[in-house]
Amino acid sequence: MKKYTALGITLFSLAVPGQSVMAAEKLNLVCSAEQPWCDLMVEGFEAQTGIDVAMVRKSTGETLAQIRAESKNPKIDVWWGGTGDPHLIAAAEGLTQPSGVDTSDLLGWAVNMSDISEGKTVGIYAGALGLAYNSELIAEKNLEAPACWKDLADVQYAGEIQVANPNSSGTAYTELATFVQLFGEEEAFTLLADIGKNVNQYTKSGSAPSKAAARGETAISIGFMHDMVKLASSGFPLKIVAPCEGTGYEVGAVSIIDKAKNLDSAKQWVEYALDPATQSRSVEVKSYQVPSNSKSSVAPESPDLASIKLIDYDFATYGSTDTRERLLSRWDAEVKNAPKN
Ligand code: F6P
Repeated sequence: MKKYTALGITLFSLAVPGQSVMAAEKLNLVCSAEQPWCDLMVEGFEAQTGIDVAMVRKSTGETLAQIRAESKNPKIDVWWGGTGDPHLIAAAEGLTQPSGVDTSDLLGWAVNMSDISEGKTVGIYAGALGLAYNSELIAEKNLEAPACWKDLADVQYAGEIQVANPNSSGTAYTELATFVQLFGEEEAFTLLADIGKNVNQYTKSGSAPSKAAARGETAISIGFMHDMVKLASSGFPLKIVAPCEGTGYEVGAVSIIDKAKNLDSAKQWVEYALDPATQSRSVEVKSYQVPSNSKSSVAPESPDLASIKLIDYDFATYGSTDTRERLLSRWDAEVKNAPKN
């Protein structure tokens, strides 16, 4: 088929023989996992497909806000990583689209995300929420080692606890939703406000508090256990606790953005992200989430979800716009600015 420019010169006549006039394929990605894993994923994809990836790392809540703001003219094609609830919310708000990927080798908790969202998101990994303490700092300050969520409200921990802000961080939203499911909404907010009296900082990213605890900048952190294992296995004096009352967990997810400009590249990314060969590489960067493909290898360091007292996390409810907005407004009003001990 001939194509003509306004000057009447065929495009074919301008093309150098043997070279394509097509632009190189590309992909715009937001990654909500840890930076080294994001980088490894991008390198692997570019090497495998030749597609150029432009990637930024952003926390889960921040990414949801960006996708909402850009809904008419999205700049992102794929959102990989981050906790599943905001991915489900994006799906329900029509901000993402079905990938059509084959889920037959995936574990039940990963397929559940696809079922709830009618294929608009799918699980890539899972990880349990916990707390950690710096054993040297706890000993130095003569503090007791915490064993339960409720312990964190004790006045002995004044100024010693760090956790993320659930508006920006999926980790902290998982904590908020976990408390509501474990204790009921009223008791959860009382407990969060009491713990808040001991909090020295609400960080933007979910893994920052455990990094601060590892470095001895705070005695206690709340976060995902796999991020704590990475730090402990790197030699930091971090002890990891599965809280006595039980705990919640995340299913990290991948979604293709509605009206993605590079749809074919985006679909290739989703297939790549679910491939056992890709998932099994996470250990190279010490990312110890449990992979979603039943054929992927699980690192021996990965927290064993079967041995942790996990709640039956209700992803459909806590991954809905109404529930998240309501809980976040209550958190802003009752927890964020709670008076300090
Ligand atoms: O390791 C990174 C990680 O803990 C993921 O497992 C999780 O999905 C993500 O961070 C959440 O990050 P944030 O709390 O900053 O949204």
